[in-house]
Amino acid sequence: MKRVTKAVFPVAGMGSRFLPATKASPKEMMPVVDKPLIQYAVEEAVAAGITDMVFITGRNKRAIEDHFDTAYELESELAARGKNDLLRMVQEVIPKHVNCIYIRQTVALGLGHAVLCAQPVVQDEPFAVILADDLIDGEPPIIQQMIEVSQRHQCSVLGVQDVPRSHTGQYGIVSATNLEPNVELAHGIIEKPSPDVAPSTLAVVGRYILTPRIFHHLAQVKAGAGGEIQLTDGIAALLREEKLLAYRFNGIRYDCGSKLGYLKAQVAFALKREDLRDGFADYLATLK
Ligand code: UTP
Repeated sequence: MKRVTKAVFPVAGMGSRFLPATKASPKEMMPVVDKPLIQYAVEEAVAAGITDMVFITGRNKRAIEDHFDTAYELESELAARGKNDLLRMVQEVIPKHVNCIYIRQTVALGLGHAVLCAQPVVQDEPFAVILADDLIDGEPPIIQQMIEVSQRHQCSVLGVQDVPRSHTGQYGIVSATNLEPNVELAHGIIEKPSPDVAPSTLAVVGRYILTPRIFHHLAQVKAGAGGEIQLTDGIAALLREEKLLAYRFNGIRYDCGSKLGYLKAQVAFALKREDLRDGFADYLATLK
């Protein structure tokens, strides 16, 4: 199996749960403390040695392109005012050796369709998919942990975590048998099963290492739940023909696609920051 050098970031969703914040800007641009979700996701990929970032964009794509582009006016203004720390921060949003590639998903036909849009760039290599609204705090970074498992077993790997049975209807759920600590061999996957029929409570969250064979299957998938082309359906076809693993990653996941998860991430990440920790903790202690 070739090395993983490309990460796909689907950022073309409606973000309807965060309207009106997402009316003119994608949900992946929402900040946790002072950094947009998409930057956390890109930093995770960079830390794992990935060099090509492939963004699948929809309406409002400009905010993301501008964020990773040079900001001449802002930079010269900061330089003129001698704000060198801020200048460096703006210039270091993305390292120089990293390429950003933007592909337009003209109609939001679902996550599976968004991933299929990356095929002309990814071609015949294994690749990562990172959903930036799943912010996962872990060391080593989650996608790096998954690349290691994928290289060792030479196959696709899904990031999974156990969820309460009452939540299975929000996730792709995997049926699997244990292979080694934290690694399960997947036998099947089903999108958003209700708790009474869910085969397990092992839920796929927003991290995937996929072999390029997934494109063949995604191209055949018919619109499923909600009229969308589901990535889960493509993966279900893939695992009927290739070995596929589910990996219980070592890290804490914040579901920033939901308001509660997003608020929890703000608190957790603020408390990790040296410049904010004490003042914020004091404030929290005053709340009931
Ligand atoms: P979600 O299921 O969270 O949907 O998409 P959403 O539209 O972003 O948010 P809500 O549910 O309306 O609030 C999961 C991921 O897939 C991307 C989204 O950007 C998100 O990262 N996506 C989804 C696409 O890129 N294209 C699509 O057609 C659908």
